Amino acid sequence: MVYLNMNNNNVFPQIVDLLFINANIATMTKDCPYGAIENGAVGIYKSKIAWVGKMKDMPFDFTSRAFMIHNANGAWITPGLIDCHTHIIYGGSRTKEFELRLNGVSYKEIALQGGGIISTVKSTRKAKISELFQASAKRLKALLAQGITTIEIKSGYGLDLETELKMLKIAKMLEHYYPVTVKTTYLGAHAIPPEFKKDKQGYIDFICNNALPRIKKQKLADFVDAFCEKIAFSEKEITKIFKKALQLGFPVKLHADQLSDSNGGKLAAKFNALSADHLEYSSEKSIIAMKKAKVTAVLLPGAFYYLKEKKIPPIEILRKHKLDMAVSTDSNPGSSPVLSILLMMNMACINFGLTPEEALLGVTKNGAKALGLLNSKGTIESGKDADLVLWDIKEPGDLAYSIGYNPCIKVIQKGIPIS
Ligand code: NIG
Ligand code: FE
Repeated sequence: MVYLNMNNNNVFPQIVDLLFINANIATMTKDCPYGAIENGAVGIYKSKIAWVGKMKDMPFDFTSRAFMIHNANGAWITPGLIDCHTHIIYGGSRTKEFELRLNGVSYKEIALQGGGIISTVKSTRKAKISELFQASAKRLKALLAQGITTIEIKSGYGLDLETELKMLKIAKMLEHYYPVTVKTTYLGAHAIPPEFKKDKQGYIDFICNNALPRIKKQKLADFVDAFCEKIAFSEKEITKIFKKALQLGFPVKLHADQLSDSNGGKLAAKFNALSADHLEYSSEKSIIAMKKAKVTAVLLPGAFYYLKEKKIPPIEILRKHKLDMAVSTDSNPGSSPVLSILLMMNMACINFGLTPEEALLGVTKNGAKALGLLNSKGTIESGKDADLVLWDIKEPGDLAYSIGYNPCIKVIQKGIPIS
């Protein structure tokens, strides 16, 4: 195959499998708002983006050699959306807790009374692999319908080795059966399991000496995460876990400063975490440390809304120090039973004050950064994976604008049209 190297740096083969023409393209690269190219075309060769640019710049011979041409008729194309923080694999339901919370009992109180995460741990341990797979597949399908092509899935509702392995294996199975790239995260430090209630140190030793090496050996997780909070794990405890994780070669992520300023952002920075997530209570010092260590700030408006939080993440400070902000569903049964990334974009705008462009960057380019995938995903550029979504919208801001309407027309995942 002969590749041409064009003036605009697009490197492409002389034929393409699939060519979108007459499209408006939100490339999400830097040059202009949304990196927009109006009257554009995107060519796909095998699983990669081969060429992107204005229709008028498209080589003539390129159109005539396309195997399949799709006329977008002015529809917008964005990168495939990326949900970079989810907990979609779990058993049981927390509707009773929802009712308790509506009657004024707080999330913290429920957790301290043995409900919350631990109640989901109990049902997840009991659930059969087939039940868990089916329940999570339903959640995944709802997310995929809104243009998600990459998702991160955490463990953390098993806590014992057997159930954590079961959850991570299910995440891998989901990737096998559905058209989506799945990144998996071991979240053993989510809560203290009942069997270690009186021996927290013992649980941390179990994570470091048993779970982490085993998960590494079985190649079941890409990342290691922890919940840094008074009701969960302290800086010191997480330091021990992260040291071991880095030793084994796992990049880390952190649930940081969600319910109080626990120095989480700073801790994430100390370990060069890929991301620090939540951040409602992060201090400016933490944010400066995160910037220096290139930690992506992951905003989770679903958890903020659902827990009726009063304090929004310090968006102005994040902007002032130019942090990359990602947006995600945090889909989980307790604090964010959310299966709509578009709703998260809307809430990030309405409740956190993001612009629609920041919201879209949050679920594309910055979502990719939060997963260490920016080399292959998150923007529409030649050489990247051909993960694309075609939308029935008039301008890219429409994606964050309306609630309850899904304008997704077509999804391409790794070059294959899947809807
Ligand atoms: O990201 N913060 C910790 N973990 C989840 C909540 C999990 C649960 O309540 O089940 C979160 O918000
Ligand atoms: Fe979470």
